[in-house]
Amino acid sequence: MQSFFYFAAHMFNFFKKNKIVVAIDGYSSCGKSTLAKDLAHKLKYVYIDSGAMYRAVTLYFIWNKIDITNTSQIEDALKKIDISFKRRRGHNSCYLNGELVENDIRSAEVSDQVSEVAALSIVRRKLVTLQQAYGVSKGLVMDGRDIGTVVFPLAELKVFVTADVDVRAHRRYSELKNRGNEIPFEDVKANLEKRDHIDSTRSDSPLRQAEDAVVLDNSNLSPAEQLEAVYKLTKMYL
Ligand code: DC
Repeated sequence: MQSFFYFAAHMFNFFKKNKIVVAIDGYSSCGKSTLAKDLAHKLKYVYIDSGAMYRAVTLYFIWNKIDITNTSQIEDALKKIDISFKRRRGHNSCYLNGELVENDIRSAEVSDQVSEVAALSIVRRKLVTLQQAYGVSKGLVMDGRDIGTVVFPLAELKVFVTADVDVRAHRRYSELKNRGNEIPFEDVKANLEKRDHIDSTRSDSPLRQAEDAVVLDNSNLSPAEQLEAVYKLTKMYL
């Protein structure tokens, strides 16, 4: 039923032609959020960080000591979770049940557990439905792991971002350091590799490149260069 409505909405929007959905997928810390944010800003589109939604659910589970092997506890908890985004200081910030959690969801504790939570089908079902609702009126850039394959399989433009694992680990290390989180480089890299492994080998919606995605290796690209490359691609549809 849900897919029928999504398909109908897609056909309706197809004829409007002016706004599109851009799906950006890729490994952890490959710069896809920066790209998605910059592109949404340039196109004056809405930007949604789907990873933040999985992080918010993980945070709720940590705060409320939910046992992730207990399905009925998870079902109950999911009914009590409301995730929203609001603009704050020029950025889209994540709120969990009305509380600003943008910093809490980036903690090492959440980063450590989020892949296990994101591998749960029951969690994915809830979040995918919420994510699809953001795309109904188009004008959306969303980044994640399954955006081009599961959430918006009919997105006009799909980009699969990759970068060398050491480059990614250095980016994440600097990002954490700038936020005052001094975590050894080797630990940061190990966390990335662990998440990549879980994200790409889970049975439900594993991270993979959609067949019709454009691959962007940004190991040697600046944020401005990657933005320019993808912005050029969007022009074909606008
Ligand atoms: O992009 P991120 O690192 O903030 O994502 C956090 C986790 O959520 C990551 O381990 C993969 C998972 N995720 C997912 O499974 N599907 C998405 N669409 C987005 C994120």
